[in-house]
Amino acid sequence: MKRLAIVLAAGQGKRMKSKLYKVLHPVCGKPMVGHVLKTVGQVNCERSVVVVGHGAETVRSYLGDAAEYVLQAEQLGTGHAVKQAKELLGDEQGSTIVICGDTPLVTSETLEGLLALHENNKAAATVLTAHMDNPKGYGRVIRDEEGKVLRIVEQKDCSPEEDAVSEINTGTYCFDNAKLFDALEKVTNHNAQQEYYLTDVIGILKEAGEIVMAYQTEDPAESIGVNDRFALSQAEGYMRERITRRHMLNGVTIIDPASTYIGADVTIGADTILYPGTILKGNTVIGSQCEIGPNSELEDSVVADGATIKYSVLNQAEVGADSTVGPFAYLRPGAKLGEKVKVGDFVEVKNATIEDGSKVSHLSYIGDAKVGKNVNVGCGAITVNYDGYNKSVTEIEDDAFIGSNVNLIAPVKVGKGAFIVAGTTVTHSVPDNDLAIGRVRQENKPGYAEKIRARAIAKKNSKKQS
Ligand code: UD1
Ligand code: CA
Repeated sequence: MKRLAIVLAAGQGKRMKSKLYKVLHPVCGKPMVGHVLKTVGQVNCERSVVVVGHGAETVRSYLGDAAEYVLQAEQLGTGHAVKQAKELLGDEQGSTIVICGDTPLVTSETLEGLLALHENNKAAATVLTAHMDNPKGYGRVIRDEEGKVLRIVEQKDCSPEEDAVSEINTGTYCFDNAKLFDALEKVTNHNAQQEYYLTDVIGILKEAGEIVMAYQTEDPAESIGVNDRFALSQAEGYMRERITRRHMLNGVTIIDPASTYIGADVTIGADTILYPGTILKGNTVIGSQCEIGPNSELEDSVVADGATIKYSVLNQAEVGADSTVGPFAYLRPGAKLGEKVKVGDFVEVKNATIEDGSKVSHLSYIGDAKVGKNVNVGCGAITVNYDGYNKSVTEIEDDAFIGSNVNLIAPVKVGKGAFIVAGTTVTHSVPDNDLAIGRVRQENKPGYAEKIRARAIAKKNSKKQS
């Protein structure tokens, strides 16, 4: 049977008290609606329509061509929202999943279960439900004596008996596509919120003699609908646990999952160890047998097998196999380290490649540079890449030696095997295998230290007397 999906994402989310539209609030670094669309994709929906309204352009530009869109110009309720998809999906035949953009924890396994129950029973509608200890705020699932679903009643429309029901509507459903759009024509807004409720479709279909089913999730955490920041933090907690568990079962050692934050789209190879305080964001990719942390933040970065990152921050950086970074290094966008590279303490690298076997061990800035293989950059050596207006490039070829506290005034090139003496300020290029020295020649004045001390003491004493 053909599978379709409608994702509701038009609401503003007033209870979030935010300038950011609700469905774009991230959970484990990924906007909620992104989680939902990914899950829907995992159950092979041929078409996914996202209903947008508040922040339509922002939501569209985030999701791009991962979905089709319809605009709900005015937010008149979830039923009204689904109805907007009629122009795109009205003529389709098949099973239509309807899911809210604010329920990021629903899993593809659960959707498969929902679809299977729905399709095996040839149901008109199947609602995903859960038992909640505190069902406040959710629609309640009302069943008859035989346990058959009769209807869904919103919290605000509940009688005291209905209010006591702990089985809730998660806001995820599966419908027979044609029957869904037919039933939507019959939905009114005669209720406490004067909205067109999608939930009324359940009662309408039931009364028409259609088969209406409920599929209950085993994990009530899945059904969290994020309406405010408190629920957002709960969703974050559950999602975080789910993500760390997945990586651990895939062979990653996480010393302290409670202090480890892994984004939803991060990948990590087996036998990698994550130490406490590790934060992996965005599309970060970590190889196997790496050691990351403690206290390191990596965003949109790629770390190859066997690398070590300690107490460091990486953003849009690449680290080759068996390289070591930190403690206290900062790799900024465009930093690309080859294999077996060492970037040590208090080193910053930006928009620069450092090839295999090179070492920048301490207190350096390497910006807008190309550093070849087996280069040694001494303590405190820096590239001077910026004159206040222009950025210029420094090139250092293979096997060069850059002494401590060298300033490389870009644009400048240091040839293969060249040797720059410590303290030199390099203002023009150095040919292969040359030695460059540019510093004032030292002079020693015998016994002068005593003399200068005596002079200083005398000055101090004369001040005291006056
Ligand atoms: C809804 C359900 C409730 C269920 C709960 C689960 C209805 C009437 N109620 O309530 O039974 O327990 O979800 O989380 O459906 N939206 C639109 N257009 C609108 C209104 C809402 O696109 O006009 C979108 C929102 O952006 C949101 C989703 O629909 O993603 C749900 O809307 P929300 O207002 O959060 O519904 P709840 O009150 O949580
Ligand atoms: Ca909600």
